[in-house]
Amino acid sequence: MAASFLLLGLLAITFSVALADLSPLQDFCVGDKNSTVLVNGMPCKDPKLAQASDFFFSGLHIAGNTSNPVRSKVQAVTATQIPGLNTLGISIVRIDYAMGGINPPHTHPRATEILTVLEGSIEVGFVTSNPDNQQFTRVLQKGDVFVFPVGLIHFQRNVGHSNAVAIAALSSQNPGVITIANAVFGSKPDISSDILVKAFQLDKNVITYMQSKF
Ligand SMILES: *[C@@H]1O[C@H](CO)[C@@H](O)[C@H](O)[C@H]1NC(C)=O
Ligand SMILES: *[C@@H]1O[C@H](CO)[C@@H](O)[C@H](O)[C@H]1NC(C)=O
Repeated sequence: MAASFLLLGLLAITFSVALADLSPLQDFCVGDKNSTVLVNGMPCKDPKLAQASDFFFSGLHIAGNTSNPVRSKVQAVTATQIPGLNTLGISIVRIDYAMGGINPPHTHPRATEILTVLEGSIEVGFVTSNPDNQQFTRVLQKGDVFVFPVGLIHFQRNVGHSNAVAIAALSSQNPGVITIANAVFGSKPDISSDILVKAFQLDKNVITYMQSKF
Protein backbone atom coordinates (compact mmCIF):
# COMPACT_ATOMS: atom_id res chain seq x y z
CA MET A 1 0.00 0.00 0.00
CA ALA A 2 2.68 2.49 1.09
CA ALA A 3 4.76 1.43 -1.90
CA SER A 4 1.91 2.10 -4.33
CA PHE A 5 1.35 5.57 -2.79
CA LEU A 6 5.06 6.24 -3.18
CA LEU A 7 4.87 5.11 -6.81
CA LEU A 8 1.88 7.41 -7.42
CA GLY A 9 3.80 10.28 -5.82
CA LEU A 10 6.81 9.62 -8.02
CA LEU A 11 4.57 9.46 -11.09
CA ALA A 12 2.93 12.77 -10.10
CA ILE A 13 6.33 14.42 -9.73
CA THR A 14 7.49 12.96 -13.05
CA PHE A 15 4.38 14.20 -14.86
CA SER A 16 4.38 17.64 -13.27
CA VAL A 17 7.94 18.05 -14.56
CA ALA A 18 7.20 16.54 -17.95
CA LEU A 19 4.06 18.61 -18.66
CA ALA A 20 5.55 22.09 -18.54
CA ASP A 21 8.78 23.78 -19.39
CA LEU A 22 11.13 23.68 -16.40
CA SER A 23 10.90 26.53 -13.92
CA PRO A 24 13.75 29.01 -14.24
CA LEU A 25 16.27 29.24 -11.39
CA GLN A 26 16.97 32.94 -11.98
CA ASP A 27 14.86 36.04 -12.71
CA PHE A 28 15.41 35.59 -16.44
CA CYS A 29 17.77 34.02 -18.94
CA VAL A 30 17.79 36.18 -22.05
CA GLY A 31 18.75 33.77 -24.81
CA ASP A 32 22.15 34.34 -26.36
CA LYS A 33 21.39 33.51 -29.98
CA ASN A 34 25.08 33.75 -30.89
CA SER A 35 26.14 30.97 -28.57
CA THR A 36 27.24 27.70 -30.14
CA VAL A 37 26.69 25.80 -26.89
CA LEU A 38 23.99 23.16 -27.32
CA VAL A 39 21.69 23.08 -24.29
CA ASN A 40 17.95 22.51 -23.75
CA GLY A 41 16.95 26.03 -24.75
CA MET A 42 19.43 28.86 -25.21
CA PRO A 43 22.30 29.74 -22.85
CA CYS A 44 21.79 32.99 -20.94
CA LYS A 45 23.50 36.17 -21.93
CA ASP A 46 25.10 38.10 -19.06
CA PRO A 47 22.08 39.45 -17.07
CA LYS A 48 23.93 42.76 -16.57
CA LEU A 49 23.76 43.25 -20.36
CA ALA A 50 19.98 42.58 -20.58
CA GLN A 51 17.85 45.41 -21.93
CA ALA A 52 14.13 46.15 -22.25
CA SER A 53 14.46 45.31 -25.96
CA ASP A 54 15.29 41.71 -24.98
CA PHE A 55 11.70 41.42 -23.68
CA PHE A 56 10.00 43.27 -26.53
CA PHE A 57 8.44 42.55 -29.91
CA SER A 58 6.40 44.83 -32.13
CA GLY A 59 4.20 43.68 -34.97
CA LEU A 60 1.17 41.72 -33.77
CA HIS A 61 -1.06 44.57 -34.99
CA ILE A 62 0.01 43.72 -38.56
CA ALA A 63 -2.24 41.32 -40.50
CA GLY A 64 -0.39 38.29 -41.86
CA ASN A 65 -0.22 37.61 -45.60
CA THR A 66 -2.75 34.84 -46.27
CA SER A 67 -1.90 34.46 -50.00
CA ASN A 68 -0.88 30.81 -49.71
CA PRO A 69 -2.57 27.43 -50.32
CA VAL A 70 -4.13 27.17 -46.82
CA ARG A 71 -5.18 30.87 -46.79
CA SER A 72 -3.96 31.52 -43.26
CA LYS A 73 -0.83 32.92 -41.66
CA VAL A 74 0.68 32.39 -38.22
CA GLN A 75 2.99 35.03 -36.76
CA ALA A 76 4.74 33.32 -33.86
CA VAL A 77 6.36 35.25 -31.02
CA THR A 78 8.51 32.70 -29.21
CA ALA A 79 12.00 32.82 -27.69
CA THR A 80 13.26 33.15 -31.27
CA GLN A 81 11.57 36.56 -31.62
CA ILE A 82 11.88 37.60 -27.93
CA PRO A 83 15.11 36.16 -26.46
CA GLY A 84 13.87 37.19 -22.98
CA LEU A 85 11.20 34.46 -23.22
CA ASN A 86 13.93 31.81 -22.97
CA THR A 87 13.21 29.48 -19.98
CA LEU A 88 9.90 31.24 -19.13
CA GLY A 89 7.52 28.63 -20.59
CA ILE A 90 5.16 30.92 -22.47
CA SER A 91 4.71 32.39 -25.95
CA ILE A 92 2.07 33.98 -28.18
CA VAL A 93 0.95 33.88 -31.81
CA ARG A 94 -1.32 35.89 -34.08
CA ILE A 95 -3.25 33.93 -36.69
CA ASP A 96 -4.92 35.54 -39.71
CA TYR A 97 -7.43 33.63 -41.83
CA ALA A 98 -8.80 34.71 -45.21
CA MET A 99 -12.39 33.66 -45.94
CA GLY A 100 -12.40 29.85 -46.01
CA GLY A 101 -8.81 29.76 -44.78
CA ILE A 102 -7.63 26.96 -42.50
CA ASN A 103 -4.84 26.38 -40.04
CA PRO A 104 -4.23 22.73 -41.03
CA PRO A 105 -4.18 19.85 -38.53
CA HIS A 106 -1.00 20.13 -36.45
CA THR A 107 0.31 19.53 -32.93
CA HIS A 108 2.58 21.39 -30.54
CA PRO A 109 4.77 18.75 -28.88
CA ARG A 110 5.62 21.03 -25.94
CA ALA A 111 2.58 23.26 -25.31
CA THR A 112 -1.06 23.60 -24.44
CA GLU A 113 -2.63 26.41 -26.46
CA ILE A 114 -5.39 28.84 -25.44
CA LEU A 115 -6.91 30.71 -28.38
CA THR A 116 -9.04 33.89 -28.36
CA VAL A 117 -10.97 35.08 -31.41
CA LEU A 118 -10.48 38.82 -32.04
CA GLU A 119 -12.44 39.06 -35.29
CA GLY A 120 -14.66 36.76 -37.31
CA SER A 121 -16.07 33.30 -36.90
CA ILE A 122 -13.73 30.32 -36.54
CA GLU A 123 -14.47 26.59 -36.35
CA VAL A 124 -11.90 24.88 -34.12
CA GLY A 125 -11.30 21.29 -33.09
CA PHE A 126 -8.93 18.78 -31.59
CA VAL A 127 -8.79 14.97 -31.55
CA THR A 128 -7.94 12.82 -28.54
CA SER A 129 -5.39 10.00 -28.42
CA ASN A 130 -5.96 6.42 -29.59
CA PRO A 131 -8.07 4.39 -29.34
CA ASP A 132 -10.98 6.86 -29.02
CA ASN A 133 -9.76 9.60 -31.41
CA GLN A 134 -12.74 11.65 -30.27
CA GLN A 135 -13.11 15.03 -31.93
CA PHE A 136 -14.04 18.07 -29.82
CA THR A 137 -15.19 20.87 -32.09
CA ARG A 138 -16.99 24.17 -31.83
CA VAL A 139 -17.62 27.39 -33.78
CA LEU A 140 -16.18 30.43 -32.02
CA GLN A 141 -17.16 34.09 -32.33
CA LYS A 142 -15.34 37.26 -31.34
CA GLY A 143 -14.32 37.06 -27.67
CA ASP A 144 -14.66 33.28 -27.46
CA VAL A 145 -11.79 31.26 -26.01
CA PHE A 146 -10.87 27.61 -26.71
CA VAL A 147 -8.15 25.28 -25.39
CA PHE A 148 -6.05 22.76 -27.34
CA PRO A 149 -4.45 20.36 -24.82
CA VAL A 150 -0.71 19.73 -25.14
CA GLY A 151 0.32 17.38 -27.94
CA LEU A 152 -3.15 16.80 -29.43
CA ILE A 153 -3.85 17.29 -33.15
CA HIS A 154 -5.92 20.44 -33.69
CA PHE A 155 -7.02 22.81 -36.47
CA GLN A 156 -9.00 25.97 -37.22
CA ARG A 157 -11.14 27.14 -40.17
CA ASN A 158 -12.60 30.54 -40.96
CA VAL A 159 -16.33 29.83 -41.41
CA GLY A 160 -17.41 33.49 -41.49
CA HIS A 161 -17.97 35.91 -44.36
CA SER A 162 -14.96 38.10 -43.66
CA ASN A 163 -11.34 37.76 -42.58
CA ALA A 164 -10.80 36.30 -39.13
CA VAL A 165 -8.09 36.99 -36.54
CA ALA A 166 -7.10 35.07 -33.41
CA ILE A 167 -4.46 35.43 -30.72
CA ALA A 168 -3.22 32.31 -28.95
CA ALA A 169 -0.95 31.83 -25.95
CA LEU A 170 1.15 28.66 -25.62
CA SER A 171 2.69 27.13 -22.50
CA SER A 172 6.24 26.95 -23.86
CA GLN A 173 8.79 29.51 -25.02
CA ASN A 174 9.46 27.05 -27.88
CA PRO A 175 6.22 25.09 -28.45
CA GLY A 176 7.30 23.46 -31.71
CA VAL A 177 4.82 22.61 -34.44
CA ILE A 178 4.28 19.43 -36.44
CA THR A 179 1.93 19.95 -39.38
CA ILE A 180 0.56 16.47 -40.02
CA ALA A 181 0.31 16.55 -43.83
CA ASN A 182 3.77 18.08 -44.24
CA ALA A 183 5.39 15.68 -41.76
CA VAL A 184 3.76 12.54 -43.19
CA PHE A 185 3.75 13.31 -46.92
CA GLY A 186 6.58 15.83 -47.10
CA SER A 187 9.33 14.34 -44.93
CA LYS A 188 12.89 14.44 -46.29
CA PRO A 189 13.59 11.81 -47.45
CA ASP A 190 10.06 10.49 -48.12
CA ILE A 191 8.55 7.89 -45.82
CA SER A 192 8.44 4.74 -47.97
CA SER A 193 5.20 4.75 -49.98
CA ASP A 194 4.64 1.09 -48.99
CA ILE A 195 4.32 2.25 -45.39
CA LEU A 196 1.90 5.05 -46.28
CA VAL A 197 -0.14 2.75 -48.59
CA LYS A 198 -0.84 0.45 -45.63
CA ALA A 199 -1.17 3.22 -43.02
CA PHE A 200 -3.75 5.19 -45.03
CA GLN A 201 -5.26 2.24 -46.93
CA LEU A 202 -4.77 4.12 -50.20
CA ASP A 203 -3.52 3.22 -53.67
CA LYS A 204 0.20 3.76 -54.27
CA ASN A 205 -0.58 6.31 -57.03
CA VAL A 206 -2.59 8.40 -54.55
CA ILE A 207 0.30 8.30 -52.06
CA THR A 208 2.80 9.32 -54.76
CA TYR A 209 0.47 12.17 -55.74
CA MET A 210 0.14 13.35 -52.14
CA GLN A 211 3.91 13.16 -51.65
CA SER A 212 4.34 15.32 -54.78
CA LYS A 213 2.05 17.97 -53.21
CA PHE A 214 4.26 18.47 -50.13
C1 LIG B 1 25.32 38.56 -31.43
O1 LIG B 1 26.21 39.01 -32.42
C2 LIG B 1 25.83 40.23 -33.02
C3 LIG B 1 26.74 40.50 -34.19
O2 LIG B 1 28.05 40.06 -33.91
C4 LIG B 1 25.84 41.33 -31.97
O3 LIG B 1 25.45 42.56 -32.54
C5 LIG B 1 24.89 40.96 -30.85
O4 LIG B 1 24.94 41.88 -29.81
C6 LIG B 1 25.20 39.56 -30.30
N1 LIG B 1 24.15 39.17 -29.38
C7 LIG B 1 24.40 38.74 -28.16
C8 LIG B 1 23.19 38.37 -27.36
O5 LIG B 1 25.53 38.64 -27.72
C1 LIG C 1 1.79 37.98 -50.05
O1 LIG C 1 2.37 36.74 -50.43
C2 LIG C 1 2.32 36.51 -51.83
C3 LIG C 1 2.81 35.09 -52.07
O2 LIG C 1 4.06 34.86 -51.46
C4 LIG C 1 3.15 37.56 -52.54
O3 LIG C 1 3.12 37.35 -53.92
C5 LIG C 1 2.59 38.93 -52.21
O4 LIG C 1 3.42 39.94 -52.79
C6 LIG C 1 2.51 39.14 -50.71
N1 LIG C 1 1.79 40.37 -50.44
C7 LIG C 1 2.28 41.30 -49.62
C8 LIG C 1 1.42 42.49 -49.41
O5 LIG C 1 3.37 41.19 -49.07
